[in-house]
Amino acid sequence: MLKKLAGIKSAAIDELSSLSDLGELEAWRVRYLGKKSELTQILRGVASLPIDQRKVIGASANKVKVLFEHSYQEHKKSLKERAYQEMEAATGSKQIISTPGISSAEKFGSPDVSLPDVSLPDVSLPGRPIPLGRLHPTTQMVREICNIFIALGFQVVEGPEVEWDYYNFEALNIPPDHPAHDMFATFWIDTEPDQRPMLLRTHTSPMQIRVMEQTRPPVRVVVPGKVYRYEATDATHESMFYQIEGLAVDENITFSDLKGTLYEFAKRLFGEERRVRFRCDYFPFVEPGVEMAIDCMACGGSGCRLCSDTGWIEILGAGMVHPDVLRRVHYDPEVYTGFAFGLGVERIPMLRYGIDDIRLFYSNDLRFLSQF
Ligand code: PHE
Repeated sequence: MLKKLAGIKSAAIDELSSLSDLGELEAWRVRYLGKKSELTQILRGVASLPIDQRKVIGASANKVKVLFEHSYQEHKKSLKERAYQEMEAATGSKQIISTPGISSAEKFGSPDVSLPDVSLPDVSLPGRPIPLGRLHPTTQMVREICNIFIALGFQVVEGPEVEWDYYNFEALNIPPDHPAHDMFATFWIDTEPDQRPMLLRTHTSPMQIRVMEQTRPPVRVVVPGKVYRYEATDATHESMFYQIEGLAVDENITFSDLKGTLYEFAKRLFGEERRVRFRCDYFPFVEPGVEMAIDCMACGGSGCRLCSDTGWIEILGAGMVHPDVLRRVHYDPEVYTGFAFGLGVERIPMLRYGIDDIRLFYSNDLRFLSQF
């Protein structure tokens, strides 16, 4: 029996070294390791051998089995390796810089030699792109607008979104019983009965007061930030949106400075050929108050859907800082004058790109956001 085992062993190992493809190798495996192979028969018969032979034969047969299995795996590996290299040479694809001790076949999985075209990895494929984030369209707009004013000599400052009634209304000439209070739908914050009333700011104008309280003229600031209005949302209304406030106070600032500055801003933002229109408007904290419009960029002023057939598009409110406001922050209105303006940020990309619903900005839909 031992002789027989030795014979099987040398025959199998001899044969194995001459095999040159995976098909032949598989046939070899079936012949020497398969269920009907001589080796398997011997192993099956071990149990019925007399006890003294059982040990010896069993041990030797097992050793041969382990040797066959190991040799089979080794040979398979080298056949695959060879096939892979031939493939690379044939397709001309570059050899990946190899890690010492690791064959390329191991690195890329096991190429199936009988179907090389399908299963070989294409090492020339580009990598998977890493998804890149980007700035929110509102943030982009805020930066673009602020940069224009920075170039005109303004500083950028920010202020609190939870604000005292005093800064949001009272200091801006809007006392509690004043009808202008109704211009703003307000989110009030619950406070203790002995506390001053607090709210989510309805505009960025309270920062006019905060800035002037803390600095002496000359003042040149722009204030970007979120503001809140308690109203039902629709295509043109959101309960949260962005404004940019502007304030310039100094000796000898006149209405011409307001017009010149805002005209320059409109040209830099909307194009050199833009025309602007100022009309009277009312805001309690400025006198006189105006609204500024630009000629419609879609129709050039002849009237279309974008400008509701008027030829003009209103983009901001402005005016000369009211003397009472100046007095409140201890600026002498006989010495100092100034202008202020406030504009809604989202409206500008809406006009520019024809976005017809402001709610798109804050509903976190990537199909919208990734277009900017
Ligand atoms: N704060 C005003 C608003 O929200 C805009 C404005 C700012 C008007 C500054 C005049 C001066 O409607």
